[in-house]
Amino acid sequence: MASGTSNGGKFITLEGGEGTGKSTQALLLAGHLEGAGIDALVTREPGGAPGAEEIRKLLVAGAPGRWDAISEALLHFAARREHLERTVLPAIAGGQWVISDRFADSTMAYQGYGLGVERQAVEALYRIVVGTFAPDLTIILDLAPELGLERSRGGQTGEDRYERMDQAFHRRLREGYLDIARREPERCAVIEADGAIEEVEAKILATVGERLGVEF
Ligand code: TMP
Repeated sequence: MASGTSNGGKFITLEGGEGTGKSTQALLLAGHLEGAGIDALVTREPGGAPGAEEIRKLLVAGAPGRWDAISEALLHFAARREHLERTVLPAIAGGQWVISDRFADSTMAYQGYGLGVERQAVEALYRIVVGTFAPDLTIILDLAPELGLERSRGGQTGEDRYERMDQAFHRRLREGYLDIARREPERCAVIEADGAIEEVEAKILATVGERLGVEF
């Protein structure tokens, strides 16, 4: 299946830089889907399955330069495979709508645009690990990195390895996400994330309604 699923649920991914509000918005969207009679599951990357949560610990803490960029991309894809096989695909097959706080666009943005891993390498890993499956809709929350880093909470949890990367890295991420959206406009929707939580929530609902035909 290229994108979407015929009998099962759907797959929505939320993407963006640090502090863009993805986790909050994933939970809010799940609540609205449930309200519309759709069984929704919120999950995250790296993580979302036991082995993937173990791999997450290797990625989100420690010195910014602790991994070679290709090793880092491989770790994210290893976590992704566990997440897909054990959580995402079974849930979708069972009819649930899965909302993932990050997915493969994060690897293209962070390890690709951010750390310099070649586009072809990330795309090849995608084909091996994910195949032709893809999100039905990807919402990219766009925010100036200075604002996002101010809002971000990673420092409180020790999960701040990426937040501690330099400003130029965070600027490349933002441009990378916008480029991803330009390349795949049918799958991706960019939403400005500098407003109040409720404003962003309303924009996401409108997009999900329009693109996936949900009546909220
Ligand atoms: P989180 O803070 O959104 O939970 O994500 C953990 C960090 O992992 C975040 O800083 C982004 C980073 N990340 C990548 O660098 N590549 C990836 O493929 C994924 C999924 C996350």
